Amino acid sequence: MDSCKIAVIGATGAVGQVFLKIAEERNFPISELRLCASERSLGKKLKFNGEEIPVELYDENLIQDVDFAFISANGDISREVAPMAAANGTVAIDDSSAFRMEETVPLVVPEVNASDLLSHRGIVSIPNCSTTPLVMTIKPLMSHLKVKRIIADTFQSVTGTGTAALQEMQEQSNLILKDQPVVPSTYPHQIAFNVLPHIEPFQENGYTREEMKMVNETRKILHDDSLMVSATCVRVPVAVSHSESIHIEFDRPITPDQVREILSSEPGIKVVDDPFADVYPMPIDAAGMDEVLVGRIRKDVSHPNGIVLWVVCDNLRKGAALNAIQIAEEMMENNIVHHEYWR
Ligand SMILES: NC(=O)c1ccc[n+]([C@@H]2O[C@H](COP(=O)([O-])OP(=O)(O)OC[C@H]3O[C@@H](n4cnc5c(N)ncnc54)[C@H](OP(=O)(O)O)[C@@H]3O)[C@@H](O)[C@H]2O)c1
Repeated sequence: MDSCKIAVIGATGAVGQVFLKIAEERNFPISELRLCASERSLGKKLKFNGEEIPVELYDENLIQDVDFAFISANGDISREVAPMAAANGTVAIDDSSAFRMEETVPLVVPEVNASDLLSHRGIVSIPNCSTTPLVMTIKPLMSHLKVKRIIADTFQSVTGTGTAALQEMQEQSNLILKDQPVVPSTYPHQIAFNVLPHIEPFQENGYTREEMKMVNETRKILHDDSLMVSATCVRVPVAVSHSESIHIEFDRPITPDQVREILSSEPGIKVVDDPFADVYPMPIDAAGMDEVLVGRIRKDVSHPNGIVLWVVCDNLRKGAALNAIQIAEEMMENNIVHHEYWR
């Protein structure tokens, strides 16, 4: 397949806008582009490769008419559009969590488990934006040693919640600097000049849904249901890029230099690790980059087989839009986009 017709559902959103930018940068081979959003955006035109394309509402005919539907709106829309696409011969690549844990839906980070795409039935999910950098860091190490336990604590930017959250943080910051009161709307508390140990609703077990996504998605992508994973997910007043402090326990010792060497040769990963020169991954550097940045690689002083590292990744690029485009590229290369493939 040399080129494809695509629809972007949620084209005006945080992920949708970055999707269009990356598609331009990568020269993603699009023969026809349909851009969809809600009624609020009707009348708007979005630029792609110098052309102005009107925003439309999606319907079954539009979805049927394209090869790929990239869905980055919300879970309800994904639940409506993705099955509609698959039934009509269109591949749905879905950013939401709606189908991630479905047995028949591959959950894919191409650098980690591209071969899972071969079993697709018309819907492919991309992982949560904190799971992706975690599995990209763990997988290459797993090829050398058995991983017994992972503890990942995240520091997630506000664009992880979409464009409205970014605007709210900016407005709150302006008000607070003028000593004026703020009224939270997107989050239960003020996000400017604050951190919230609360992303998505709390579950019976005391973890949040976001934290359990990291546990379950990591196991699914790495094909290891017994892998011990624990996460604490924290929202921080950062515009773009999620950071993670990751503690990994292996079955035997490994040195920080060995970890550096393994990760340095991995596609999609950039080791940024010279702490004595104040060099380590930071959200302001990762924003706009395709690579997952890894640094602060050190031996865990609390465990002989432990390694600790600090990982930062642009949540809108590799955490969402870039991963979705890479999945489509991989599927086109393997010629598994046609309906006959999964019918
Ligand atoms: N942000 C991230 O880092 C990230 C990472 C991974 C996955 N995701 C997932 O990606 C999806 C989008 O996230 P986002 O951050 O881009 O959100 P966002 O900035 O709030 O954008 C939401 C998009 O959905 C559109 N939309 C809303 N209701 C619609 C409707 N009834 N019909 C058609 N389009 C509709 C919006 O259009 P209007 O502009 O017209 O309202 C907008 O384009 C979510 O499922 C999210 O969980 C996000």
